[in-house]
Amino acid sequence: MLEVANLNVWYGVTEVLRDVSFEVPQGALVALLGGNGSGKTTIINTLSGMVTPRKGTVRFLGTEMAGRPSDAMVKAGIVQVPQGREVFANMSVRDNLDLGAATRTDRKGIRDDLEEMYGLFPRLRDKQTHKAGSLSGGEQQQVAVARALMSRPKLLLLDEPSVGLSPVLVDALIETIRLLHGRGLTMLLVEQNVGVAAAVAGQAYVLKDGEIAYRGPAPELIGNPEVLASYLGR
Ligand SMILES: Nc1ncnc2c1ncn2[C@@H]1O[C@H](COP(=O)(O)OP(=O)(O)O)[C@@H](O)[C@H]1O
Ligand SMILES: [Mg+2]
Repeated sequence: MLEVANLNVWYGVTEVLRDVSFEVPQGALVALLGGNGSGKTTIINTLSGMVTPRKGTVRFLGTEMAGRPSDAMVKAGIVQVPQGREVFANMSVRDNLDLGAATRTDRKGIRDDLEEMYGLFPRLRDKQTHKAGSLSGGEQQQVAVARALMSRPKLLLLDEPSVGLSPVLVDALIETIRLLHGRGLTMLLVEQNVGVAAAVAGQAYVLKDGEIAYRGPAPELIGNPEVLASYLGR
């Protein structure tokens, strides 16, 4: 579904991604791991059209997308849940979710999807009139995920969704990711939490200083002390 090849990204005079290549097959859940500053968010932002690569290709469903603007990426079906689970704090939960469907015109489909989101995240139904900023961190995470899903993504990009969540909420997050994966949603999951990645992902790539340093099955990672020590600093 997604084939990224030899991606190079520079911020000014600094090279932050060097010859990054990876694939996300249709229906797969691929993890992208790496320490702070290794370039994970830069990859996500390149895929969502917020960063323009200097070199390389991003093929999505057979179309070359590298350097296309954000709206083109969303239209193609690539949708990001941003790092830090940004929600529109002063808007209601319901308005946040409606915003996710802003590019759609199928009113019935939107209503059905809203119901589905409330089924998936019952807390959001209870709090649909509350300002999103008044919700707990875990609930805001749900708003951010639900908003992204409201646009009916073909590929969902999750940037460190477990950060700042308590162990109980991390477990709930893992369940949600598994559920979405089980429904056939293709996902690229960026994580520093190796446990989360190992619990849900198939293939994993490890990024170090802007380069892919390791690739292999995610569950193998957790049993590989060398990978953990040299690339993830654990
Ligand atoms: N807008 C920017 N301008 C300049 N440098 C940046 C910018 N954003 C990130 N960087 C740098 O690029 C590198 C990769 O950052 P990032 O992709 O955010 O890493 P990660 O998500 O893995 O923590 C880091 O060294 C970071 O300091
Ligand atoms: Mg990041």
